[in-house]
Amino acid sequence: MRIFVPRDAAAVAVGADDVAAALEQVAQKRGLPVEIIRTGSRGLCWLEPMVEVATLKGRVAYGPVSPEDVSSVFDSMAGNGQHPLRLGIADEIPWLKRQTRLTFARCGVIDPRSLDDYRAHGGYKGLERALSLGADAILTEVTSSGLRGRGGAGFPTGIKWKTVSQAKADRKFIVCNADEGDSGTFADRMIMEGDPFLVIEGMTIAAITVGATKGYIYIRSEYPHAVEAMNAAIAAAQRGGYLGTNIGGSTQSFDLEVRVGAGAYVCGEETSLLESLEGRRGIVRAKPPLPAHHGLFGKPTVINNVLSFAAAPFILAEGAKAYADFGMGRSRGTMPIQLAGNIRHGGLFETAFGVTLGELVDDIGGGTFTGRPVRAVQVGGPLGAYFPRALFDTPFDYEAFAARDGLIGHGGIVVFDDSVDMRKQARFAMEFCAIESCGKCTPCRIGSTRGVETIEKIISGERVSENLALVEDLCNTMKFGSLCALGGFTPYPVLSALKHFREDFVPAPARLQAAE
Ligand code: NAI
Ligand code: SF4
Repeated sequence: MRIFVPRDAAAVAVGADDVAAALEQVAQKRGLPVEIIRTGSRGLCWLEPMVEVATLKGRVAYGPVSPEDVSSVFDSMAGNGQHPLRLGIADEIPWLKRQTRLTFARCGVIDPRSLDDYRAHGGYKGLERALSLGADAILTEVTSSGLRGRGGAGFPTGIKWKTVSQAKADRKFIVCNADEGDSGTFADRMIMEGDPFLVIEGMTIAAITVGATKGYIYIRSEYPHAVEAMNAAIAAAQRGGYLGTNIGGSTQSFDLEVRVGAGAYVCGEETSLLESLEGRRGIVRAKPPLPAHHGLFGKPTVINNVLSFAAAPFILAEGAKAYADFGMGRSRGTMPIQLAGNIRHGGLFETAFGVTLGELVDDIGGGTFTGRPVRAVQVGGPLGAYFPRALFDTPFDYEAFAARDGLIGHGGIVVFDDSVDMRKQARFAMEFCAIESCGKCTPCRIGSTRGVETIEKIISGERVSENLALVEDLCNTMKFGSLCALGGFTPYPVLSALKHFREDFVPAPARLQAAE
């Protein structure tokens, strides 16, 4: 009997290791021949630890399972199959079935430590086709797929790769930005833990396209499970002939190393990440020159987010059209959306662009965990805008969010119920920026600290309208005068809180005063 238990950090945090141990023990006691396979997570976080048992009809899921449930799960399998935690055939669970999993197709399904399992589930088909196509045709595929950088900025990946491929240099690099620092985001972590060969394959496709021979995956230190998974996969890919010399039986060479960050949010900004990778303090570099021309160690560098690389194998394996057929407007393909915060059904939901914010929060997410009305959602991490219910018709699309002074960023949605105090959220945005600022430019370094002080004055009722005008003025200075997105985007949460939730600021309503 084959039983699948996630080894994903979120599942482990709620006891998946204990469940795996209990499964082993009970099976041994009963003399049942059981093989436990540790997978990634399917992304239904509220059902973790979600255990799946292979049957002739497919994998039957149970969740959330605790070690105490294990005996009764075995009993039910030996009996009539009924169990209160039985969720049915995993692939048929409506929350999973309504997704379009192009990037996350294997996550939670395969053993992330097994190169054979990856290949058995279609892995390395993209690289094989890429090797047969050659650089120019790969660039055409990636460009016509419409893939845009999934780290947040949405820059066309094909154009970035083309810029590096055309740059003349003795060495070029591929860098994967896995410094996933946005609040409420975990897609990079999940894919690195659940399908690490996919990231390696995507980076390898980029390498053969631009002529790079060395790559680095820069992972935040808060992700030890992802570091372990990536290191294990790199070693397996090296042993299997998919990294090193003659990759995939070709004449191409490419190798990879993991580097671990030291806990600075700003190292997710590409130029400070490169500084950190070179062994210096993570301080933002002025652009231009772009990393595509002058990146790691001064060499042309493709630096992309984990999800951008992870999208490439599907595009190469299935063709650009198969990817571009999904989505809306200039946002093509799918987005792994992360539902977090005060939400009933939190997790990873991959779907084509165009789904509305309301569908995501109310329907897919099931509203708040507390059962109270949803009041605000922050989309795109700590630098994203707060949207009220009135904007829930906004489709998940780069341009549609930008038109409403928001951003989709890395696809994280954090939900708040009606007990939220938007003055405190605005203060938090400025405080976050003050703590994480690299200090290079004045609007961000000084502005964020003045922002905290001024919002505190508003909260304490001191010259409220005067200080509100000051905050708005300060936000404009930060927006247009900062060197990078940290200082430049901090105004988004602040100004959106002021615009859409003005009633929290002038004067503080009885609802909030009572809560203080
Ligand atoms: P950007 O717009 O300056 O650049 C986007 C990317 O395109 C960069 O890699 C840049 O080097 C490249 N690029 C721009 N023009 C190019 C050209 N002509 N040729 C080749 N490459 C070119 O944006 P930036 O500052 O890199 O990122 C800002 C975004 O980061 C924000 O939208 C925010 O959503 C997101 N962000 C994501 C976080 C996360 O945890 N994933 C955390 C914080 C911010
Ligand atoms: Fe550094 Fe902030 Fe300026 Fe970015 S905006 S360069 S984080 S000081």
